[in-house]
Amino acid sequence: MSQVLEYSEKVMDHFTNPRNVGEIEDAAGVGTVGNAKCGDIMRMYLDIEDNIVKDAKFKTFGCGAAVATSSMATELVIGKTVEEALKVTNKAVMEALDGLPPVKVHCSLLAEEAIHAALWDYAEKNGITIDGLKPPVTDIDETEEFYKMEE
Ligand code: FES
Repeated sequence: MSQVLEYSEKVMDHFTNPRNVGEIEDAAGVGTVGNAKCGDIMRMYLDIEDNIVKDAKFKTFGCGAAVATSSMATELVIGKTVEEALKVTNKAVMEALDGLPPVKVHCSLLAEEAIHAALWDYAEKNGITIDGLKPPVTDIDETEEFYKMEE
């Protein structure tokens, strides 16, 4: 039996009109992660200058909740320092969206993990350590599925 999920107006807004979709050429950090539960994929691009996130863009092969959380996550990290961006958790993103149905909470992890993976990439490229940042667990290589999405 299928269940009708209730989404907040903010989730619907960010799903139907997602902010910051796309990619950043020569991004300071790029992270691609997969959701272990459903197999959906997200890539996050961060433009970082003087330790500040100047721009963020994302692409996802994921569900509506993943689109909405990524959209909100990009809005939340832009203008923040690298350390502040690291603290943009999936919980913070969900709160900013006025919540998600419990069965969709795992989708919000994609955005958090993609930000972390992009920050990790940035740190590696620049030979720096970001306090509290752990290596991405679900970081994945360029997969065939991802390229299919970009066609
Ligand atoms: Fe896969 Fe939502 S169902 S990210």
